[in-house]
Amino acid sequence: MESPWMAAARLMAESLRRRVSLKSLAISMYSRAPRGFKAEVRSVAVGAVRNFMLLDRLLLLAGANIESMSLERLCYARVLAYLLKLRGASLNDPKVGEVARASRLDGRSLKMLGRLEVEDAYAGLEGLDKLSIKYSMPMWILESLVKVGAPRLEPLLRRLQRDPSRWIRVSTHRVTREELVRRLSRRGFKLKADSDLDDVLQVLSFKGGITETPEYRAGLYHVQDKASVLVGHVARSEVGVHVDLTGGPGGKITHLAQLERYGVACDVSMARCSSIRELARRLRVAVDAVLCDSRLPPLRLRGRSIVLVDPPCTNLGRLCYEPEVKAWMTEDMVREFAKLQRSLLRAAAEAAPRGTVVVYSVCTFTRDECERVVEDALSLGLEPVDQRPFIGEAAAPSRKAQRLYPHIHDTAGFYIAKLVKV
Ligand SMILES: C[S@@+](CC[C@H](N)C(=O)[O-])C[C@H]1O[C@@H](n2cnc3c(N)ncnc32)[C@H](O)[C@@H]1O
Repeated sequence: MESPWMAAARLMAESLRRRVSLKSLAISMYSRAPRGFKAEVRSVAVGAVRNFMLLDRLLLLAGANIESMSLERLCYARVLAYLLKLRGASLNDPKVGEVARASRLDGRSLKMLGRLEVEDAYAGLEGLDKLSIKYSMPMWILESLVKVGAPRLEPLLRRLQRDPSRWIRVSTHRVTREELVRRLSRRGFKLKADSDLDDVLQVLSFKGGITETPEYRAGLYHVQDKASVLVGHVARSEVGVHVDLTGGPGGKITHLAQLERYGVACDVSMARCSSIRELARRLRVAVDAVLCDSRLPPLRLRGRSIVLVDPPCTNLGRLCYEPEVKAWMTEDMVREFAKLQRSLLRAAAEAAPRGTVVVYSVCTFTRDECERVVEDALSLGLEPVDQRPFIGEAAAPSRKAQRLYPHIHDTAGFYIAKLVKV
């Protein structure tokens, strides 16, 4: 059987080639592998992809001609550099030797790589150039973080290099938070009640899989980032029907249905509509899933609806979860996402009767996908209004939107604006 380090390099190459998340690929490629093997594959692939620019720089300094390598060979070389430089592994370890052979680095480069220090990768660089290599963050992403005025840039970059905090949403229509804590504690979970949101628990540690408990199967909780649960609380209203125009896989609409008894989720993807239905079934909430393109307003909105627009985005706020995204995302893709986001929010604004509340949220940082999309829709009669709970940093328009940051709020990076049609 191949070593987990060889498997990690293959997984990384496949993920970058197909632009598919490491996690979903690992599930399909190693579904039958033992848990320990899978954990090691994931940990090495994630570590190597998190540091891909730093590792490439070390390989270049070692004299490797990385431009001429195939993607697969480059990923073997990256995993090798990662094991040697960031994991303290030794070339004398036969499993490292196997990765070295697959990378086909020559003896001179291997020797040189052995001598280099991690800091050599950014020695002589200053400012953003240094941060870009040190934290393997492409320059265009760094510049967009600077443009939005992200507070304390280096701590943010450092935080994005680590795993996210784990959050679960309690199915409060079925179980109290205290009761769920009691039940999961008996299974070896360590949990902390969140002080901002009364249906959220932070998972400090757990035994086995977080989704492998009878409580999970029975729908007593859902794994969902705290920032995403916050969107549900911001959108929640006792009056009116909640509609998520981009609803798959159903995290936010099932939350709204648990809080307010019912929700409608639209999605352009059949698979996503199935995920919404499956999730609603497990959590035992009432959600109707509608297969449609929400750029052509699918529903006749009546009375005081609450409409959520939570469109696809560059996912840069989720780099703690999926660091591979930074290796393939481009500025052109930001423009493509922004176009789709604008047309979805505009369609919602045009279809909404007066008094409709529209909540716009994205798990990313770029201004083009956040403030600019909302500002574009203001001309269609949407006005920013106060939102509660407000736990993030104030953002445009009118400082009424909020931004959440991983290093400050310990959540995914999110932008949330609440608007009303006047
Ligand atoms: C970020 S996800 C939404 C997450 C969801 N709100 C939740 O909380 O689970 C974006 C979703 O928008 C859907 N989508 C993309 N374009 C769409 C369109 N034109 N109309 C409706 N849904 C669309 C995608 O299929 C995807 O499921």
